[in-house]
Amino acid sequence: MSDIRFDGKVALITGAGGGLGKTYALALAARGCKIVVNDLGGKSDGTGASVSMADAVVKEIESAGGMAVANHDSVATPEGGKAMVQAAIDNFGRIDIVINNAGILRDKTFAKLEPADLGIVLDVHLKGAFYVTQPAFIKMKEQNYGRIIFTASSAGVLGNFGQTNYGAAKMGLVGLSNVLALEGAKNNIKCNVIAPIARTRLTEQLLGPAAATLDPECVTPLVTYLVSEQCDLTHNIFSVGGGRFARMFVGLTPGWFAGKGGKPAPEQIRDHIGEIRDPASYIIPDSIADEMRAMMEMFKG
Ligand code: NAI
Repeated sequence: MSDIRFDGKVALITGAGGGLGKTYALALAARGCKIVVNDLGGKSDGTGASVSMADAVVKEIESAGGMAVANHDSVATPEGGKAMVQAAIDNFGRIDIVINNAGILRDKTFAKLEPADLGIVLDVHLKGAFYVTQPAFIKMKEQNYGRIIFTASSAGVLGNFGQTNYGAAKMGLVGLSNVLALEGAKNNIKCNVIAPIARTRLTEQLLGPAAATLDPECVTPLVTYLVSEQCDLTHNIFSVGGGRFARMFVGLTPGWFAGKGGKPAPEQIRDHIGEIRDPASYIIPDSIADEMRAMMEMFKG
């Protein structure tokens, strides 16, 4: 197979002024992609703004011979999302790739969480991905081509102490990707989720000694592959960090069947809970339709 290239393709990468997003911007540009480098340029807690982060990445791409433009809007408003997609259309004529990557942290234990810490985290991570992806998705449908990445986190997919706001927002992105993968299927629009682990300004205080081995560039190859024309995967979630690449998934156990229309006593649930939870012979449904099919098979006996 030929090398992965992005000649003629256009990518919008949010939060690409530093950390993981910057590595994606540099890697895609080096393989011929034209890039909209979006970054609000604020602090990790979502306060402040500056043009310098996005501008510096654009300069770096240009001095390496690539093509890029900066966008300094926040992903957290519908107007910001529309403006960054429009920047791709105005400067490069199309939009093929969206990497939803912008992010902030407002970690607090649940009992201490303030409404403001919930609001801003949902706005940037979850609503931001809606605001950016929707105008791009409409263009991608017209083009019959698109590659979309959502950046979740194991904090949501698996759970992590002190991150209810962040975990809920990140798991929300899994739902968004799962549904969009189905809606985009007939227009060759692929949607996938990554749960990365990398040393960046968001995590350098949190990773301990493991930080040394968790270069952000270890995440880049997977994202580069997933947004390429050569990748036809969709509806997947990947855990990625430090050179280890793995699939994560939502599985469904065969479960226990109480009989047609069964309304068992709670004591029967107690008695069968082992069978209900037994992961042997699980399936990985791609939609509600797959789940219904599995139920109907059981009803048939
Ligand atoms: P980072 O702080 O280096 O990058 C995030 C970027 O998003 C920053 O450059 C920031 O200026 C930008 N940003 C923040 N709010 C924005 C807004 N409203 N509009 C536009 N840009 C905005 O951190 P990192 O680690 O590179 O994070 C990238 C993504 O990966 C985030 O979504 C984060 O939640 C996620 N993630 C990172 C993990 C890690 O281990 N580094 C673990 C799990 C998820």
